[in-house]
Amino acid sequence: MFLGHYLVVNNSLRTIAEDGDAVVILDQTRLPKQTAFVHLLNLEQAAHAIRVMQVRGAPLIGATAAYGVALALREGIPLEQAIDVLAATRPTAVNLRWALERMRRVLEKSAVATRRDVAWQEARTIASEDEEANAAIGRHGSPLLQAVQRRPVQVMTHCNAGWLATVAHGTAIAPIYAAHEAGVDVHVWVSETRPRDQGLLTAWELAQVDIPHTLIADNAAGLLMMQGKVDLVIVGADRIAANGDTANKVGTYLKALAAREHGIPFYVAAPVSTIDFACPKGADIPIEERDAAEFGEKVSRCGTPVANPAFDVTPAALVSGIITEQGVFSAAGLSTIKR
Ligand code: MRU
Repeated sequence: MFLGHYLVVNNSLRTIAEDGDAVVILDQTRLPKQTAFVHLLNLEQAAHAIRVMQVRGAPLIGATAAYGVALALREGIPLEQAIDVLAATRPTAVNLRWALERMRRVLEKSAVATRRDVAWQEARTIASEDEEANAAIGRHGSPLLQAVQRRPVQVMTHCNAGWLATVAHGTAIAPIYAAHEAGVDVHVWVSETRPRDQGLLTAWELAQVDIPHTLIADNAAGLLMMQGKVDLVIVGADRIAANGDTANKVGTYLKALAAREHGIPFYVAAPVSTIDFACPKGADIPIEERDAAEFGEKVSRCGTPVANPAFDVTPAALVSGIITEQGVFSAAGLSTIKR
């Protein structure tokens, strides 16, 4: 069940699993210093885990929310109340809303007597599907790295869109893992991702499997691109609008602008559950504003006014392709995706 930093479900390595009456997660606020698992026993603990980012990354937030509904029903909390509590935790990652809508649809159709079991089963299915989708993203994305002439292939990523951010495998990092497993020599430029340092999580993940990588300050990305040290950029997504505009961790947009200036392909990797077909364009995506305290004590002590938008939007025109479990799509091609 517990294997090093992983949870093991049916012989596969996961970030979230069931343990008796509880849902177990790896507390990402303690990584990379410490591996600590947390048992979620009720709705409030699940909501708290998402809110404070013990779990983070769009797909993992979605899976945790689904399990949050199952925990809530076991407590006797009405479905709508559970959905409202969970939906209010984080606004940008659409996988949260997607998972809650899916739970609602399935549970509304089921007999009251079976609802609790159905909720656990559906949460389990959402988790398994995420694992499969991300493995497929790896398979579809790996050829993009293999097509690069230079060795090692120089990939840049931002934030953490590796296995930690999903149920398994990751999204932006899945093609890197797949290429590495296929024997391709890869080096990853990992941008640190102020103010919460998710880049450190990516560096830690890559270190576990000996993929060469270098952590950089967010603002060093443009220089490295200008110096010809980057072959392609792959980032994850928290929500992709129907027109291909993509919300991801703040700082992504600047990387896309620099990549365009230097003729570097810029890919977004995400499962179909991250595409919000009901959201026409990036300007309609809600951007989460997080607490100023995330800038740390030094800033807090100064009392300086702080703005802390957690995401930005990269216009579809800057995106070379969107790597999904169904293949690599252009923004215009998103409408052909099977849902
Ligand atoms: O605020 P976070 O750490 O949840 O933000 C995570 C990201 O922006 C990821 O790039 C995105 O969720 C994709 S995760 C596979």
